[in-house]
Amino acid sequence: MGLRFALVAALEEELRTLLAALQSPVTEHHAGRAFHRGRLDGHEVVLVRSGIGKVAAATTALLLADRYGVDALVFTGVAGALQPAASIGDVVVARELLQHDMDASPLFPRHEVPLTGRSHFPTDADLSDALARAARDALEAERIGLDSSFAALGIDRPRVHEGLVVSGDRFVATSLERTALRTELPDALAVEMEGAAVAQVCLDCDLPFAVLRTLSDCADDSAHVDFGRFVAEVAGPLGAAIVRTWLRRVEPA
Ligand code: ADE
Repeated sequence: MGLRFALVAALEEELRTLLAALQSPVTEHHAGRAFHRGRLDGHEVVLVRSGIGKVAAATTALLLADRYGVDALVFTGVAGALQPAASIGDVVVARELLQHDMDASPLFPRHEVPLTGRSHFPTDADLSDALARAARDALEAERIGLDSSFAALGIDRPRVHEGLVVSGDRFVATSLERTALRTELPDALAVEMEGAAVAQVCLDCDLPFAVLRTLSDCADDSAHVDFGRFVAEVAGPLGAAIVRTWLRRVEPA
């Protein structure tokens, strides 16, 4: 039997394009979530919408590790850009993740997850390498298909970034909060609401994982503008194209 991959997103719009391509789908419900098993690009996959936030993401990741016994997990979706060099429409492949709202100080250092000795949780290096390569190639290829959506949203030439992604149970939507995050965590490329929770569960479960995000906003006062449209028209199709480019290159085990 080949490898089984979990493909997860927080929002329905982020998963829709992948779901539409799923072959021989079988849907099962656990803990209020619909798990869609099937085949995609020659591989056995499980597609699931986790819901928003760290608890929802952690619950989903644990079910995928424990109940479905998946061999690797890829979390895809959108994030807010935190670096001036990262623009809306760019893609971020996380190399490490941190919970920006974790604070058990003075008992433990700020951002450290108590009793783990860590604040930064690394993603699987090989999986992240492969996804970053797929992202660069898909962006070249998909530009043609997504050109009008990119242009309508003022997106020029999307690029791929790799590095620190931070997560917390807050949609960051003010310049004040963005500045505070950047001051506290100057290396952070992007902010979202699930990745670091998935990272913690996957490390506990010894499950290789990666996090792939399209930048939908700049985590400032205009963060909500065009958000829904961006997710449905750009991030969903682009994330799906990248994941499928990667899947097609994975040798069946
Ligand atoms: N996901 C996408 N944009 C975000 C933001 N600004 N804050 C938190 N999560 C996000």
